[in-house]
Amino acid sequence: MTKRSYDSLRSARWFAPDDLRSFGHRSRIMQMGYAPEDWEGRPVIAILNTWSDINPCHSHFRQRVEDVKRGIFQAGGFPIELPALSLSENFVKPTTMLYRNMLAMEAEELLRSHPVDGAVLMGGCDKTTPGLLMGAISAGLPCIYLPAGPMLRGNWQGKTLGSGSDAWKYWDERRAGKISKTEWIGVEGGIARSAGTCMTMGTASTMTAIAESIGMTLPGASSIPAVDANHIRMAAACGRRIVDMVWDDLTPARILSKASFLNAIAVAMAMGCSTNAVIHLIAMSRRAGCDVTLDDFDAASRKVPVIANVRPSGDTYLMEDFYYAGGLPALMKRMSEHLQGDTLTVTGHTLAENIKDAEVYNDDVIRSMDNPLYPEGALAVLRGNLAPSGCVIKPSACAPRFLRHTGPALVFDDYPSMKAAVDDDNLDVTPDHIMILRNAGPLGGPGMPEWGMLPIPTKLVRQGVRDMLRISDARMSGTSYGACVLHVAPESYVGGNLALVRTGDMITVDVPARRIHLEISDEELATRRAGWVAPERRFERGYGWMFSQHILQADAGCDLDFLETQFGAPNNEPSI
Ligand code: FES
Ligand code: MG
Repeated sequence: MTKRSYDSLRSARWFAPDDLRSFGHRSRIMQMGYAPEDWEGRPVIAILNTWSDINPCHSHFRQRVEDVKRGIFQAGGFPIELPALSLSENFVKPTTMLYRNMLAMEAEELLRSHPVDGAVLMGGCDKTTPGLLMGAISAGLPCIYLPAGPMLRGNWQGKTLGSGSDAWKYWDERRAGKISKTEWIGVEGGIARSAGTCMTMGTASTMTAIAESIGMTLPGASSIPAVDANHIRMAAACGRRIVDMVWDDLTPARILSKASFLNAIAVAMAMGCSTNAVIHLIAMSRRAGCDVTLDDFDAASRKVPVIANVRPSGDTYLMEDFYYAGGLPALMKRMSEHLQGDTLTVTGHTLAENIKDAEVYNDDVIRSMDNPLYPEGALAVLRGNLAPSGCVIKPSACAPRFLRHTGPALVFDDYPSMKAAVDDDNLDVTPDHIMILRNAGPLGGPGMPEWGMLPIPTKLVRQGVRDMLRISDARMSGTSYGACVLHVAPESYVGGNLALVRTGDMITVDVPARRIHLEISDEELATRRAGWVAPERRFERGYGWMFSQHILQADAGCDLDFLETQFGAPNNEPSI
Protein backbone atom coordinates (compact mmCIF):
# COMPACT_ATOMS: atom_id res chain seq x y z
CA MET A 1 0.00 0.00 0.00
CA THR A 2 1.39 3.42 -0.89
CA LYS A 3 1.70 5.81 2.04
CA ARG A 4 0.38 9.33 1.73
CA SER A 5 2.76 12.26 1.84
CA TYR A 6 2.56 14.80 4.66
CA ASP A 7 1.61 17.55 2.20
CA SER A 8 -1.50 15.61 1.18
CA LEU A 9 -2.94 15.59 4.71
CA ARG A 10 -5.83 17.88 5.60
CA SER A 11 -4.05 19.20 8.68
CA ALA A 12 -1.07 20.30 6.58
CA ARG A 13 -3.36 22.92 5.04
CA TRP A 14 -3.64 24.49 8.50
CA PHE A 15 -0.08 24.03 9.70
CA ALA A 16 2.36 23.79 6.80
CA PRO A 17 2.07 26.92 4.60
CA ASP A 18 4.39 29.86 5.12
CA ASP A 19 1.59 32.42 5.37
CA LEU A 20 -0.19 34.55 7.92
CA ARG A 21 -3.09 32.15 8.56
CA SER A 22 -0.77 29.26 9.28
CA PHE A 23 1.31 31.54 11.48
CA GLY A 24 -1.91 31.97 13.50
CA HIS A 25 -2.53 28.23 13.73
CA ARG A 26 1.05 27.43 14.70
CA SER A 27 1.38 30.23 17.23
CA ARG A 28 -1.83 29.12 18.90
CA ILE A 29 -0.60 25.52 19.15
CA MET A 30 2.61 26.89 20.67
CA GLN A 31 0.44 28.87 23.10
CA MET A 32 -0.46 25.49 24.61
CA GLY A 33 3.19 24.61 25.12
CA TYR A 34 3.74 22.44 22.07
CA ALA A 35 6.85 22.81 19.93
CA PRO A 36 7.11 22.22 16.17
CA GLU A 37 8.59 18.80 16.97
CA ASP A 38 5.17 17.84 18.33
CA TRP A 39 3.25 18.40 15.10
CA GLU A 40 5.58 18.88 12.13
CA GLY A 41 5.18 16.14 9.59
CA ARG A 42 2.66 14.32 11.79
CA PRO A 43 -1.00 13.45 11.19
CA VAL A 44 -3.36 15.22 13.57
CA ILE A 45 -5.71 12.75 15.23
CA ALA A 46 -8.98 13.87 16.77
CA ILE A 47 -10.17 11.95 19.78
CA LEU A 48 -13.92 12.33 20.08
CA ASN A 49 -14.41 11.70 23.78
CA THR A 50 -17.96 11.27 25.09
CA TRP A 51 -16.90 11.60 28.72
CA SER A 52 -19.07 13.62 31.08
CA ASP A 53 -19.50 14.02 34.81
CA ILE A 54 -22.87 12.32 34.56
CA ASN A 55 -22.11 9.37 32.33
CA PRO A 56 -21.17 6.45 34.60
CA CYS A 57 -20.61 4.18 31.61
CA HIS A 58 -17.80 6.46 30.39
CA SER A 59 -16.36 7.56 33.73
CA HIS A 60 -13.01 5.92 32.91
CA PHE A 61 -12.70 7.89 29.65
CA ARG A 62 -11.08 10.80 31.44
CA GLN A 63 -8.04 8.62 32.11
CA ARG A 64 -8.41 6.37 29.08
CA VAL A 65 -8.05 9.27 26.66
CA GLU A 66 -4.50 9.76 27.98
CA ASP A 67 -3.72 6.19 26.91
CA VAL A 68 -5.11 6.88 23.46
CA LYS A 69 -2.89 9.98 23.26
CA ARG A 70 0.12 7.92 24.36
CA GLY A 71 -0.49 5.52 21.49
CA ILE A 72 -0.89 8.36 18.99
CA PHE A 73 2.39 9.99 20.06
CA GLN A 74 4.18 6.61 19.96
CA ALA A 75 3.14 6.12 16.35
CA GLY A 76 4.16 9.62 15.31
CA GLY A 77 0.80 11.38 15.37
CA PHE A 78 -0.40 14.49 17.15
CA PRO A 79 -3.54 13.97 19.28
CA ILE A 80 -6.22 16.51 19.98
CA GLU A 81 -9.11 15.66 22.25
CA LEU A 82 -12.50 17.00 21.20
CA PRO A 83 -15.27 16.48 23.75
CA ALA A 84 -18.55 15.32 22.22
CA LEU A 85 -22.11 14.97 23.50
CA SER A 86 -22.02 12.28 26.18
CA LEU A 87 -25.60 10.88 26.01
CA SER A 88 -25.84 9.01 29.29
CA GLU A 89 -28.62 6.49 28.82
CA ASN A 90 -29.79 6.74 32.41
CA PHE A 91 -29.96 10.46 32.84
CA VAL A 92 -30.86 12.09 29.52
CA LYS A 93 -34.61 12.65 29.13
CA PRO A 94 -36.99 12.10 27.53
CA THR A 95 -34.66 9.63 25.82
CA THR A 96 -31.13 9.60 24.40
CA MET A 97 -32.68 8.51 21.11
CA LEU A 98 -33.89 12.08 20.64
CA TYR A 99 -30.23 13.12 20.59
CA ARG A 100 -28.47 10.27 18.74
CA ASN A 101 -28.67 12.24 15.52
CA MET A 102 -27.47 15.38 17.28
CA LEU A 103 -24.33 13.51 18.35
CA ALA A 104 -23.98 12.21 14.80
CA MET A 105 -24.23 15.73 13.43
CA GLU A 106 -21.79 16.99 16.03
CA ALA A 107 -19.27 14.25 15.27
CA GLU A 108 -19.45 14.95 11.55
CA GLU A 109 -19.02 18.69 11.96
CA LEU A 110 -16.27 18.42 14.59
CA LEU A 111 -14.23 16.36 12.17
CA ARG A 112 -15.02 18.56 9.20
CA SER A 113 -14.23 21.86 10.87
CA HIS A 114 -11.01 21.03 12.71
CA PRO A 115 -7.50 20.46 11.35
CA VAL A 116 -7.64 16.69 11.69
CA ASP A 117 -6.69 13.75 9.49
CA GLY A 118 -8.27 10.88 11.37
CA ALA A 119 -10.19 10.10 14.53
CA VAL A 120 -10.47 7.79 17.49
CA LEU A 121 -14.12 7.58 18.56
CA MET A 122 -14.63 6.93 22.27
CA GLY A 123 -18.13 5.74 23.07
CA GLY A 124 -20.11 2.78 24.31
CA CYS A 125 -23.23 3.80 26.20
CA ASP A 126 -26.13 2.88 23.91
CA LYS A 127 -26.60 5.73 21.41
CA THR A 128 -23.01 6.93 21.49
CA THR A 129 -21.85 4.04 19.29
CA PRO A 130 -24.26 4.62 16.39
CA GLY A 131 -24.12 8.40 16.89
CA LEU A 132 -20.33 8.60 16.62
CA LEU A 133 -20.10 6.10 13.80
CA MET A 134 -22.89 7.69 11.74
CA GLY A 135 -21.17 11.08 12.00
CA ALA A 136 -17.71 9.70 11.29
CA ILE A 137 -18.96 7.72 8.29
CA SER A 138 -20.42 10.90 6.85
CA ALA A 139 -17.25 12.88 7.59
CA GLY A 140 -15.30 10.24 5.70
CA LEU A 141 -11.91 10.51 7.47
CA PRO A 142 -10.07 7.38 8.65
CA CYS A 143 -11.43 6.49 12.07
CA ILE A 144 -11.34 3.74 14.63
CA TYR A 145 -13.84 3.00 17.38
CA LEU A 146 -12.81 2.44 20.99
CA PRO A 147 -15.68 0.83 22.93
CA ALA A 148 -15.99 1.78 26.62
CA GLY A 149 -16.26 -1.89 27.56
CA PRO A 150 -18.80 -3.48 29.87
CA MET A 151 -18.81 -2.92 33.63
CA LEU A 152 -18.03 -5.79 36.01
CA ARG A 153 -20.77 -8.22 37.08
CA GLY A 154 -23.16 -6.86 39.67
CA ASN A 155 -23.11 -8.44 43.11
CA TRP A 156 -25.62 -8.41 45.97
CA GLN A 157 -25.68 -10.82 48.87
CA GLY A 158 -23.43 -13.12 46.88
CA LYS A 159 -25.82 -13.18 43.94
CA THR A 160 -24.79 -11.98 40.49
CA LEU A 161 -26.82 -9.00 39.26
CA GLY A 162 -27.24 -7.99 35.63
CA SER A 163 -27.87 -4.43 34.37
CA GLY A 164 -31.48 -3.66 33.61
CA SER A 165 -32.85 -7.20 33.73
CA ASP A 166 -32.33 -7.62 37.46
CA ALA A 167 -33.60 -4.14 38.25
CA TRP A 168 -36.92 -5.12 36.66
CA LYS A 169 -36.89 -8.57 38.18
CA TYR A 170 -36.34 -7.32 41.73
CA TRP A 171 -38.78 -4.44 41.21
CA ASP A 172 -41.44 -7.02 40.41
CA GLU A 173 -40.39 -8.91 43.55
CA ARG A 174 -40.72 -5.72 45.54
CA ARG A 175 -44.15 -4.94 44.04
CA ALA A 176 -45.20 -8.46 44.93
CA GLY A 177 -44.03 -7.79 48.52
CA LYS A 178 -41.26 -10.43 48.37
CA ILE A 179 -38.28 -8.18 49.20
CA SER A 180 -38.00 -5.31 51.68
CA LYS A 181 -36.98 -1.70 51.08
CA THR A 182 -33.64 -2.36 52.81
CA GLU A 183 -32.94 -5.27 50.48
CA TRP A 184 -33.97 -3.13 47.52
CA ILE A 185 -31.40 -0.49 48.54
CA GLY A 186 -28.82 -3.27 48.67
CA VAL A 187 -29.66 -4.11 45.07
CA GLU A 188 -29.22 -0.41 44.17
CA GLY A 189 -25.70 -0.41 45.55
CA GLY A 190 -24.65 -3.69 44.00
CA ILE A 191 -26.01 -3.69 40.48
CA ALA A 192 -23.52 -1.19 38.97
CA ARG A 193 -20.17 -1.30 40.74
CA SER A 194 -17.54 -0.22 38.20
CA ALA A 195 -17.10 2.08 35.24
CA GLY A 196 -18.36 0.64 31.96
CA THR A 197 -21.47 -0.04 29.97
CA CYS A 198 -24.37 -2.33 30.93
CA MET A 199 -22.93 -5.83 31.20
CA THR A 200 -25.96 -7.70 29.96
CA MET A 201 -26.52 -8.12 26.21
CA GLY A 202 -28.21 -4.74 26.07
CA THR A 203 -27.94 -2.08 23.45
CA ALA A 204 -24.41 -1.08 24.46
CA SER A 205 -22.91 -4.58 24.17
CA THR A 206 -24.90 -5.18 21.00
CA MET A 207 -23.79 -1.97 19.33
CA THR A 208 -20.13 -2.27 20.27
CA ALA A 209 -20.16 -5.84 18.92
CA ILE A 210 -21.67 -4.43 15.75
CA ALA A 211 -18.93 -1.79 15.57
CA GLU A 212 -16.40 -4.61 15.78
CA SER A 213 -18.11 -6.88 13.26
CA ILE A 214 -18.39 -4.14 10.62
CA GLY A 215 -14.64 -3.78 10.99
CA MET A 216 -14.44 -0.45 12.84
CA THR A 217 -12.64 -1.64 16.02
CA LEU A 218 -9.48 -3.57 16.66
CA PRO A 219 -10.15 -7.32 17.11
CA GLY A 220 -11.66 -8.13 20.48
CA ALA A 221 -12.04 -4.50 21.54
CA SER A 222 -15.77 -4.70 22.20
CA SER A 223 -15.60 -7.46 24.82
CA ILE A 224 -12.92 -6.18 27.22
CA PRO A 225 -14.35 -5.03 30.57
CA ALA A 226 -13.91 -1.29 31.07
CA VAL A 227 -11.71 -1.60 34.15
CA ASP A 228 -9.47 -4.44 32.88
CA ALA A 229 -5.84 -3.48 32.21
CA ASN A 230 -6.30 -4.99 28.77
CA HIS A 231 -8.69 -2.12 28.09
CA ILE A 232 -5.94 0.39 28.83
CA ARG A 233 -3.62 -1.35 26.41
CA MET A 234 -6.40 -1.50 23.82
CA ALA A 235 -6.82 2.28 24.14
CA ALA A 236 -3.14 2.83 23.39
CA ALA A 237 -3.30 0.32 20.52
CA CYS A 238 -6.17 2.29 18.95
CA GLY A 239 -4.02 5.42 19.16
CA ARG A 240 -1.13 3.68 17.42
CA ARG A 241 -3.27 2.11 14.73
CA ILE A 242 -5.15 5.25 13.67
CA VAL A 243 -1.90 6.98 12.73
CA ASP A 244 -1.05 4.24 10.25
CA MET A 245 -4.64 4.26 8.99
CA VAL A 246 -4.20 7.93 8.10
CA TRP A 247 -0.96 7.25 6.18
CA ASP A 248 -2.76 4.39 4.39
CA ASP A 249 -5.90 6.53 3.84
CA LEU A 250 -7.99 3.68 5.22
CA THR A 251 -11.36 5.46 5.31
CA PRO A 252 -14.76 4.09 6.38
CA ALA A 253 -15.77 4.12 2.71
CA ARG A 254 -13.00 1.60 1.99
CA ILE A 255 -13.86 -0.57 4.99
CA LEU A 256 -17.65 -0.64 4.90
CA SER A 257 -19.73 -2.56 2.40
CA LYS A 258 -23.12 -4.19 2.30
CA ALA A 259 -21.33 -7.39 3.33
CA SER A 260 -19.93 -5.74 6.47
CA PHE A 261 -23.42 -4.74 7.54
CA LEU A 262 -24.83 -8.18 6.76
CA ASN A 263 -22.03 -9.61 8.89
CA ALA A 264 -23.07 -7.29 11.70
CA ILE A 265 -26.69 -8.44 11.41
CA ALA A 266 -25.61 -12.08 11.62
CA VAL A 267 -23.40 -11.36 14.63
CA ALA A 268 -26.22 -9.44 16.30
CA MET A 269 -28.48 -12.46 15.87
CA ALA A 270 -25.91 -14.86 17.28
CA MET A 271 -25.49 -12.52 20.25
CA GLY A 272 -29.22 -12.44 21.04
CA CYS A 273 -29.09 -8.75 20.32
CA SER A 274 -30.99 -5.75 21.59
CA THR A 275 -33.93 -4.82 19.36
CA ASN A 276 -32.38 -1.36 19.11
CA ALA A 277 -29.74 -2.85 16.82
CA VAL A 278 -32.29 -2.84 14.03
CA ILE A 279 -32.79 0.91 14.03
CA HIS A 280 -29.14 1.81 14.49
CA LEU A 281 -27.77 -0.63 11.92
CA ILE A 282 -30.24 0.55 9.32
CA ALA A 283 -29.27 4.17 10.02
CA MET A 284 -25.53 3.42 9.91
CA SER A 285 -25.78 1.42 6.71
CA ARG A 286 -27.69 4.21 4.99
CA ARG A 287 -24.94 6.66 5.99
CA ALA A 288 -22.43 4.33 4.38
CA GLY A 289 -24.53 4.10 1.23
CA CYS A 290 -25.06 0.35 1.54
CA ASP A 291 -28.55 0.07 2.95
CA VAL A 292 -29.77 -2.89 4.92
CA THR A 293 -33.50 -3.33 5.60
CA LEU A 294 -35.81 -5.03 8.08
CA ASP A 295 -35.97 -7.97 5.68
CA ASP A 296 -32.22 -8.51 6.01
CA PHE A 297 -32.74 -8.90 9.76
CA ASP A 298 -35.58 -11.33 9.35
CA ALA A 299 -33.66 -13.42 6.82
CA ALA A 300 -30.65 -13.63 9.14
CA SER A 301 -32.83 -14.46 12.13
CA ARG A 302 -34.20 -17.51 10.33
CA LYS A 303 -30.69 -18.85 9.73
CA VAL A 304 -28.44 -17.77 12.57
CA PRO A 305 -28.90 -19.38 15.99
CA VAL A 306 -28.34 -17.51 19.27
CA ILE A 307 -25.05 -18.89 20.60
CA ALA A 308 -24.04 -16.20 23.12
CA ASN A 309 -25.39 -17.43 26.44
CA VAL A 310 -25.58 -13.97 27.96
CA ARG A 311 -28.49 -12.41 29.81
CA PRO A 312 -31.24 -11.56 29.06
CA SER A 313 -31.43 -14.33 26.41
CA GLY A 314 -29.50 -16.66 28.68
CA ASP A 315 -30.11 -16.71 32.39
CA THR A 316 -26.65 -16.94 33.91
CA TYR A 317 -23.75 -15.25 32.20
CA LEU A 318 -22.79 -11.65 31.63
CA MET A 319 -20.34 -9.78 29.38
CA GLU A 320 -17.46 -10.39 31.78
CA ASP A 321 -17.98 -14.13 31.32
CA PHE A 322 -18.27 -13.60 27.57
CA TYR A 323 -14.86 -11.92 27.56
CA TYR A 324 -13.25 -14.72 29.55
CA ALA A 325 -14.83 -17.24 27.17
CA GLY A 326 -12.97 -15.70 24.24
CA GLY A 327 -15.08 -12.64 23.43
CA LEU A 328 -16.41 -11.56 20.11
CA PRO A 329 -13.57 -12.91 17.91
CA ALA A 330 -14.26 -16.38 19.34
CA LEU A 331 -17.99 -16.03 18.72
CA MET A 332 -17.38 -14.87 15.15
CA LYS A 333 -15.03 -17.76 14.51
CA ARG A 334 -17.74 -20.17 15.71
CA MET A 335 -20.37 -18.71 13.41
CA SER A 336 -18.06 -17.96 10.49
CA GLU A 337 -20.21 -20.01 8.12
CA HIS A 338 -22.67 -17.09 8.36
CA LEU A 339 -20.06 -14.40 7.77
CA GLN A 340 -18.40 -13.05 4.70
CA GLY A 341 -14.79 -13.23 5.79
CA ASP A 342 -13.26 -11.08 3.07
CA THR A 343 -14.59 -7.76 4.43
CA LEU A 344 -11.89 -5.24 5.30
CA THR A 345 -11.34 -3.92 8.85
CA VAL A 346 -9.39 -1.13 10.56
CA THR A 347 -6.46 -3.52 10.95
CA GLY A 348 -5.97 -3.41 7.20
CA HIS A 349 -6.69 -7.14 7.24
CA THR A 350 -9.91 -8.98 6.55
CA LEU A 351 -12.36 -10.15 9.18
CA ALA A 352 -11.37 -13.75 8.49
CA GLU A 353 -7.68 -12.93 9.02
CA ASN A 354 -8.47 -11.11 12.28
CA ILE A 355 -10.32 -14.05 13.83
CA LYS A 356 -8.40 -16.98 12.44
CA ASP A 357 -6.65 -17.79 15.74
CA ALA A 358 -9.61 -17.03 18.02
CA GLU A 359 -10.66 -19.76 20.43
CA VAL A 360 -13.63 -20.45 22.66
CA TYR A 361 -12.61 -21.16 26.27
CA ASN A 362 -16.05 -21.91 27.68
CA ASP A 363 -18.55 -23.83 25.57
CA ASP A 364 -21.43 -23.00 27.86
CA VAL A 365 -20.97 -19.23 27.44
CA ILE A 366 -20.25 -19.29 23.71
CA ARG A 367 -22.19 -22.28 22.51
CA SER A 368 -21.37 -24.40 19.49
CA MET A 369 -23.56 -24.08 16.41
CA ASP A 370 -25.11 -27.48 17.08
CA ASN A 371 -25.88 -26.68 20.73
CA PRO A 372 -27.34 -23.18 20.54
CA LEU A 373 -29.31 -21.31 23.14
CA TYR A 374 -32.06 -20.83 20.54
CA PRO A 375 -32.08 -22.51 17.17
CA GLU A 376 -33.40 -19.37 15.49
CA GLY A 377 -32.17 -15.84 15.77
CA ALA A 378 -33.05 -13.17 18.22
CA LEU A 379 -35.46 -11.07 16.19
CA ALA A 380 -38.50 -11.51 14.02
CA VAL A 381 -40.00 -8.87 11.76
CA LEU A 382 -43.78 -8.90 11.60
CA ARG A 383 -46.04 -7.19 9.09
CA GLY A 384 -49.78 -6.82 8.66
CA ASN A 385 -52.50 -4.21 8.80
CA LEU A 386 -51.29 -3.08 12.20
CA ALA A 387 -47.72 -2.52 10.95
CA PRO A 388 -47.59 -2.24 7.16
CA SER A 389 -43.96 -1.01 7.30
CA GLY A 390 -43.03 -3.62 9.89
CA CYS A 391 -42.40 -4.10 13.59
CA VAL A 392 -40.06 -6.34 15.57
CA ILE A 393 -40.27 -8.87 18.38
CA LYS A 394 -37.56 -10.79 20.24
CA PRO A 395 -38.95 -14.34 20.32
CA SER A 396 -35.98 -15.61 22.33
CA ALA A 397 -37.01 -13.34 25.22
CA CYS A 398 -40.73 -14.08 25.38
CA ALA A 399 -42.93 -16.82 26.82
CA PRO A 400 -43.58 -19.40 24.04
CA ARG A 401 -47.37 -19.21 24.34
CA PHE A 402 -47.30 -15.66 22.95
CA LEU A 403 -45.59 -16.62 19.71
CA ARG A 404 -49.07 -17.41 18.39
CA HIS A 405 -51.69 -15.46 20.26
CA THR A 406 -55.04 -13.78 19.72
CA GLY A 407 -56.45 -11.55 22.43
CA PRO A 408 -58.38 -8.38 23.18
CA ALA A 409 -56.60 -5.04 23.04
CA LEU A 410 -56.20 -2.84 26.10
CA VAL A 411 -55.22 0.54 24.68
CA PHE A 412 -53.31 3.40 26.32
CA ASP A 413 -52.78 6.71 24.55
CA ASP A 414 -49.87 7.87 26.65
CA TYR A 415 -47.37 6.67 29.22
CA PRO A 416 -48.78 8.41 32.33
CA SER A 417 -52.27 6.96 31.87
CA MET A 418 -50.79 3.50 31.27
CA LYS A 419 -48.64 3.83 34.39
CA ALA A 420 -51.61 4.86 36.53
CA ALA A 421 -53.79 2.06 35.16
CA VAL A 422 -51.36 -0.79 35.78
CA ASP A 423 -51.34 -0.04 39.50
CA ASP A 424 -55.16 0.02 39.67
CA ASP A 425 -56.55 -3.14 41.27
CA ASN A 426 -59.84 -2.65 39.41
CA LEU A 427 -58.24 -2.62 35.96
CA ASP A 428 -60.23 -4.91 33.66
CA VAL A 429 -57.37 -7.06 32.42
CA THR A 430 -56.54 -10.76 32.05
CA PRO A 431 -53.26 -12.47 31.16
CA ASP A 432 -54.64 -12.91 27.62
CA HIS A 433 -55.10 -9.20 27.01
CA ILE A 434 -52.76 -7.46 24.61
CA MET A 435 -51.57 -4.20 26.12
CA ILE A 436 -51.05 -1.37 23.65
CA LEU A 437 -49.13 1.85 24.14
CA ARG A 438 -49.26 4.36 21.32
CA ASN A 439 -47.96 7.87 20.67
CA ALA A 440 -44.56 6.57 21.71
CA GLY A 441 -42.80 6.50 18.31
CA PRO A 442 -40.12 8.75 16.80
CA LEU A 443 -42.46 11.77 16.68
CA GLY A 444 -45.02 10.75 19.27
CA GLY A 445 -42.65 9.86 22.14
CA PRO A 446 -40.94 12.06 21.15
CA GLY A 447 -37.72 10.26 20.24
CA MET A 448 -39.16 6.76 20.53
CA PRO A 449 -38.47 6.18 24.22
CA GLU A 450 -37.79 2.74 25.70
CA TRP A 451 -41.32 2.29 26.97
CA GLY A 452 -42.09 -0.85 24.98
CA MET A 453 -41.78 -3.27 27.89
CA LEU A 454 -45.06 -2.07 29.44
CA PRO A 455 -45.25 -3.14 33.08
CA ILE A 456 -47.49 -6.12 33.80
CA PRO A 457 -50.52 -4.85 35.78
CA THR A 458 -49.79 -5.18 39.49
CA LYS A 459 -52.86 -7.30 40.17
CA LEU A 460 -51.64 -9.86 37.63
CA VAL A 461 -48.09 -9.74 39.02
CA ARG A 462 -49.54 -10.76 42.39
CA GLN A 463 -51.21 -13.70 40.68
CA GLY A 464 -47.80 -14.77 39.40
CA VAL A 465 -48.12 -13.45 35.83
CA ARG A 466 -44.68 -12.45 34.51
CA ASP A 467 -45.29 -12.04 30.76
CA MET A 468 -48.00 -10.62 28.53
CA LEU A 469 -48.23 -9.65 24.90
CA ARG A 470 -47.57 -5.94 24.48
CA ILE A 471 -47.55 -3.79 21.34
CA SER A 472 -46.20 -0.28 20.86
CA ASP A 473 -44.47 2.10 18.49
CA ALA A 474 -41.83 2.60 21.18
CA ARG A 475 -38.47 0.85 21.55
CA MET A 476 -37.42 -1.18 24.54
CA SER A 477 -34.16 -1.37 26.37
CA GLY A 478 -31.85 -4.11 25.16
CA THR A 479 -31.85 -5.52 28.66
CA SER A 480 -35.64 -5.84 28.63
CA TYR A 481 -37.46 -9.08 28.03
CA GLY A 482 -40.97 -10.31 27.45
CA ALA A 483 -43.47 -10.64 24.62
CA CYS A 484 -43.09 -7.07 23.39
CA VAL A 485 -43.89 -6.10 19.81
CA LEU A 486 -41.97 -2.90 19.12
CA HIS A 487 -41.16 -0.23 16.53
CA VAL A 488 -44.61 -0.44 14.90
CA ALA A 489 -44.31 1.55 11.66
CA PRO A 490 -45.77 3.85 10.67
CA GLU A 491 -46.19 5.11 14.24
CA SER A 492 -49.62 6.08 15.57
CA TYR A 493 -48.68 9.75 15.85
CA VAL A 494 -48.49 10.13 12.08
CA GLY A 495 -51.67 8.12 11.55
CA GLY A 496 -50.40 4.55 11.44
CA ASN A 497 -53.19 2.01 12.01
CA LEU A 498 -52.04 1.61 15.60
CA ALA A 499 -53.84 4.94 16.12
CA LEU A 500 -57.15 3.30 15.16
CA VAL A 501 -57.18 0.37 17.60
CA ARG A 502 -59.85 0.41 20.32
CA THR A 503 -59.91 -1.41 23.63
CA GLY A 504 -61.63 -4.74 23.08
CA ASP A 505 -60.59 -5.15 19.41
CA MET A 506 -59.11 -8.58 18.78
CA ILE A 507 -55.50 -8.71 17.60
CA THR A 508 -53.54 -11.69 16.30
CA VAL A 509 -49.79 -12.03 16.54
CA ASP A 510 -48.32 -14.99 14.69
CA VAL A 511 -44.53 -15.00 14.89
CA PRO A 512 -43.91 -18.16 12.80
CA ALA A 513 -46.04 -16.58 10.03
CA ARG A 514 -44.43 -13.16 10.69
CA ARG A 515 -47.90 -11.61 10.89
CA ILE A 516 -49.62 -9.01 13.05
CA HIS A 517 -53.27 -8.36 12.38
CA LEU A 518 -56.01 -6.18 13.79
CA GLU A 519 -59.15 -8.30 13.39
CA ILE A 520 -61.46 -5.67 11.95
CA SER A 521 -62.62 -5.19 8.37
CA ASP A 522 -60.97 -2.82 5.92
CA GLU A 523 -64.25 -0.86 5.82
CA GLU A 524 -64.23 -0.39 9.58
CA LEU A 525 -60.57 0.67 9.43
CA ALA A 526 -61.43 3.22 6.73
CA THR A 527 -64.33 4.59 8.81
CA ARG A 528 -62.10 4.99 11.83
CA ARG A 529 -59.40 6.61 9.71
CA ALA A 530 -61.85 9.19 8.40
CA GLY A 531 -62.58 10.19 12.00
CA TRP A 532 -58.91 10.36 13.06
CA VAL A 533 -57.52 13.77 13.92
CA ALA A 534 -53.77 14.30 13.63
CA PRO A 535 -52.22 15.49 16.90
CA GLU A 536 -50.24 18.70 17.21
CA ARG A 537 -46.49 18.52 16.68
CA ARG A 538 -44.59 18.22 19.97
CA PHE A 539 -42.15 21.14 19.63
CA GLU A 540 -42.53 24.80 18.71
CA ARG A 541 -38.82 25.67 18.68
CA GLY A 542 -35.25 24.45 19.00
CA TYR A 543 -33.68 21.08 18.30
CA GLY A 544 -36.97 19.29 18.95
CA TRP A 545 -38.68 21.35 16.26
CA MET A 546 -35.96 20.52 13.75
CA PHE A 547 -36.14 16.86 14.81
CA SER A 548 -39.88 16.70 14.25
CA GLN A 549 -39.61 18.25 10.79
CA HIS A 550 -37.05 15.73 9.59
CA ILE A 551 -37.12 12.48 11.58
CA LEU A 552 -37.57 9.26 9.59
CA GLN A 553 -39.68 6.32 10.77
CA ALA A 554 -38.22 3.27 12.56
CA ASP A 555 -38.02 1.06 9.48
CA ALA A 556 -35.75 3.69 7.88
CA GLY A 557 -33.49 4.00 10.93
CA CYS A 558 -34.82 7.23 12.50
CA ASP A 559 -32.10 9.40 10.99
CA LEU A 560 -32.80 13.01 10.11
CA ASP A 561 -33.59 12.99 6.42
CA PHE A 562 -31.09 15.74 5.58
CA LEU A 563 -28.21 13.83 7.19
CA GLU A 564 -28.70 10.79 4.99
CA THR A 565 -26.03 10.32 2.36
CA GLN A 566 -28.47 10.31 -0.51
CA PHE A 567 -29.99 13.66 0.57
CA GLY A 568 -27.51 15.83 -1.31
CA ALA A 569 -23.99 16.27 -2.61
CA PRO A 570 -21.20 15.95 -0.02
CA ASN A 571 -20.21 19.19 1.70
CA ASN A 572 -17.06 20.89 0.53
CA GLU A 573 -13.90 20.94 2.58
CA PRO A 574 -13.74 24.16 4.63
CA SER A 575 -11.59 26.89 3.16
CA ILE A 576 -8.87 28.00 5.51
FE1 FES B 1 -24.86 3.20 29.59
FE2 FES B 1 -26.51 0.95 29.77
S1 FES B 1 -26.67 2.88 30.72
S2 FES B 1 -24.75 1.29 28.60
MG1 MG C 1 -30.19 0.60 27.34
